[in-house]
Amino acid sequence: MLRRYYRENSEREMYMKVKEFLYGGDYNPEQWPEEVWEADMKMFRKAHINELTLNVFSWAALQPSEETYDFSKLDKIMELVRANGFKVILATSTAATPPWMAKRHPDILRTDGNGMKRKYGARHNFCPSSPTMRKYAPLLAQKLAERYKDYDNIVAWHIGNEYGGECHCDNCQKNYREWLKKKYGTLDELNRAWNTSFWSHTYYDWDEIQIPDERSENFVSEGGKKITQVQGQFLDYMRFNSDIMLDEYRIERDAIKKITPDIPITTNFMWFFYGLNYREWAKYMDFVSWDCYPHMDTEPAELAMAHDLIRGVGGQKPFALMESSPSVTNWQHINPLKRPGQMTLYSLEAVAHGADTVQFFQMRRSRGAAEAMHGAVIEHVGLAGTRVFDEVEKLGARLEKMNEILGSTVPSQAAVVFDWENWWAVDALQGPNELIDYKNECLNYYRGFFENHIPVDVIGLDDDLSKYKVVVAPMLFMASKDYAEKIEDFVRNGGAFIASALTGYVDKDYLFYQGGYPGPFKELFGLWVEEQDALAPDAPDHFEWDGQEYEAQLICDQIRPLSELKKLIEENKKELGELDYFKSPAYQISEDAGDMTVDGTYADDFYKGTPVITENSYGKGRAYYIGTQSTPDFYKDFMKQVTKKAGIKPAAEGVKKGVEVAVRENENGKFLFYLDHKNNTVEVKKA
Ligand code: GLA
Ligand code: ZN
Repeated sequence: MLRRYYRENSEREMYMKVKEFLYGGDYNPEQWPEEVWEADMKMFRKAHINELTLNVFSWAALQPSEETYDFSKLDKIMELVRANGFKVILATSTAATPPWMAKRHPDILRTDGNGMKRKYGARHNFCPSSPTMRKYAPLLAQKLAERYKDYDNIVAWHIGNEYGGECHCDNCQKNYREWLKKKYGTLDELNRAWNTSFWSHTYYDWDEIQIPDERSENFVSEGGKKITQVQGQFLDYMRFNSDIMLDEYRIERDAIKKITPDIPITTNFMWFFYGLNYREWAKYMDFVSWDCYPHMDTEPAELAMAHDLIRGVGGQKPFALMESSPSVTNWQHINPLKRPGQMTLYSLEAVAHGADTVQFFQMRRSRGAAEAMHGAVIEHVGLAGTRVFDEVEKLGARLEKMNEILGSTVPSQAAVVFDWENWWAVDALQGPNELIDYKNECLNYYRGFFENHIPVDVIGLDDDLSKYKVVVAPMLFMASKDYAEKIEDFVRNGGAFIASALTGYVDKDYLFYQGGYPGPFKELFGLWVEEQDALAPDAPDHFEWDGQEYEAQLICDQIRPLSELKKLIEENKKELGELDYFKSPAYQISEDAGDMTVDGTYADDFYKGTPVITENSYGKGRAYYIGTQSTPDFYKDFMKQVTKKAGIKPAAEGVKKGVEVAVRENENGKFLFYLDHKNNTVEVKKA
């Protein structure tokens, strides 16, 4: 039962390094009489469970009133679990506040975007700016750390639970203004960045600024999408909201770190979670963890990408699969059972993508309230030997033989950029097509690699690119000049870079680049996007690439060679005179910037025969531009060609359709996972 930790760098100085796969999950013995506990311990051991995540939602029990704390039940549970040889991930219990607290200190309650102050109820219900929360949440965390610090079976701390949501109360409003003051210093600077001369928005007093919500800048469009009017302000609000939630996490984290500096700390992420910039959050986590609940129609590539995304935000190190259902969820519209073998498949898929744990929600099905119909290792029948229990038991035995995989990484030579701020930026865009979805666009490219069995890292803008041969940054609508230079270096040194429609339109303030799209990337791609057409989903255009016809969907960039833009600038100068206007950097194009090569052209409409897929040789590398969206067959064919040219080999060849291949590698060797999504089977081979 040894705790072994690994010191890395100063930002993320350690991660949970365990000698055996952690196998267990959320266990709520406080909901049960003690005679049940004893049976649970025995059943868990039978199922090869070795870890229990405790105390996720017990605040009201631990603190019955403002003045009193009662740890007696948790003491018993901690003792029992240690005596039975289980490791523990100990949660701080702060994701659901006690009712008395809301009654006495209403500042703890959230206010919705329509101004409705919430009453007490449900969970994830605290205001991140609440002075009450900021006093009592870290205090509880501190008390837990002091009380249980000597339990050497605690492998990690779990702060809160699935952070998310927004609060629009006056305290949050005040903090938003403070955040803006710190960022901009002066109102002039803020007015510039938000382009407030549009629609008479100039601010003269910080107190005039409101959180953008249904009462201020937001409305719902004809198509049903939430629209915001001042994009720069919206973007800052999203940044602020992620930061203020993170602040709440950090005060609990800091309280614990003071007492148990060697126990790693995490909180559980969710999927592609829109509201929080997980990459920023991960900087304050010793290892990342996430809760994996695929929907009934989630495709294998999306699930694989979600794992890779989480591994990526954690710096490509092993992560924890903090929660998953052993059988069903209860919160989807329709909740089908995981088919025989599917739980094993999904669990080992997480492992294949870098998880060093397999954990479930929940260990025992609760007796009452919202989650009584949610799958569990022990179901309401209360016995071992059910279909689900048996599969859990078999997987436990299997994991015990796989420990040499622990600590390994995924040897990727290709990467897909996924940037939260850009996600918000694309989402906030009004026009050209409401159906454009950044996450889907990223998934299109990821799937192209996936279907060719090419391991991929999902990376952020700050990640080092030197280990990659191919990098795709789909729809990087918001891109700084610095980032464009970083990409130019990457390509100059031999990398292949791929970008797609709506790249390089705005800077970090959401101000549009002047002098032609794709702003700072024009020379790299050797092109100019003059306009963009929008298509209805049921009326795609077509294009030809490599002798085949594919669909062009939703957006069709009107692409010109860069020399046409140069010519246009010269003609304007001739006609309007050598104005200062033309001295702006927007109109400077290097002498040696060349034109792209056209690889694919549109097959329909007034732009038939004009470029849609282009490539440009730049230094030792190549820059590809895909001016539209297409169907999976295109991305598969395209990625096959590009990766082959770049010298990337698939992890396996001649693989049956429907089988996913993933790789992990460490000093013990290379581990190949064959995940058959059609038949719910997994083979793990050492290469
Ligand atoms: C989330 C929560 C858990 C539980 C599960 C149910 O992941 O963290 O507390 O509600 O969902 O799927
Ligand atoms: Zn608030």
